[in-house]
Amino acid sequence: MFIVLLICGGLVGFYLLMWVTVLQQPKCKSTAKLYGRTVIVTGANTGIGKATALDLAKRGARVILACRDERRAQAAVTDIQRESGNKEVLYMHLDLASLKSVRSFAENFLKKESRLDILINNADFLFGGKTEDGFGRIFGVNHTR
Ligand SMILES: NC(=O)c1ccc[n+]([C@@H]2O[C@H](COP(=O)([O-])OP(=O)(O)OC[C@H]3O[C@@H](n4cnc5c(N)ncnc54)[C@H](OP(=O)(O)O)[C@@H]3O)[C@@H](O)[C@H]2O)c1
Repeated sequence: MFIVLLICGGLVGFYLLMWVTVLQQPKCKSTAKLYGRTVIVTGANTGIGKATALDLAKRGARVILACRDERRAQAAVTDIQRESGNKEVLYMHLDLASLKSVRSFAENFLKKESRLDILINNADFLFGGKTEDGFGRIFGVNHTR
């Protein structure tokens, strides 16, 4: 009997935890469309960046996934194009741990694109080490953009 009560208590506790942390969170209810708009999402091959890129693609934006790993980024492009039905989703190489790469991304973007409407600085790095420019990696990737 005690075990049954313990399990029921655990399940109720788990449900309440989920309710407070996930189900009760505010949700975006906007139905805004973004046809003709160009968006850059950094670190868009996974996690929140990928989910954001998918939402923007569903709204009709031209979405540029600015990522450091071509294979993972191309896989995300394929997923997002398939799920959104929007073919205007593309990858451009950007390694935020290298100012050379940041400059080259900017030059490439300016050469190929005629406008930028939204920039989402999503990418981040949480561990130590140094960037090739000698900054602490967390500072270099997350702040020197
Ligand atoms: N998850 C949370 O609960 C939470 C809470 C608060 C705030 N946030 C913020 O939300 C954002 C996304 O979080 P997340 O959990 O989705 O992160 P994540 O899954 O760890 O994704 C981080 C992204 O950043 C990219 N990245 C890392 N270093 C990079 C570099 N040098 N150049 C280019 N891209 C680089 C990663 O690329 P690779 O795949 O190549 O590593 C990946 O695409 C972050 O800014 C985070 O601080 C998240």
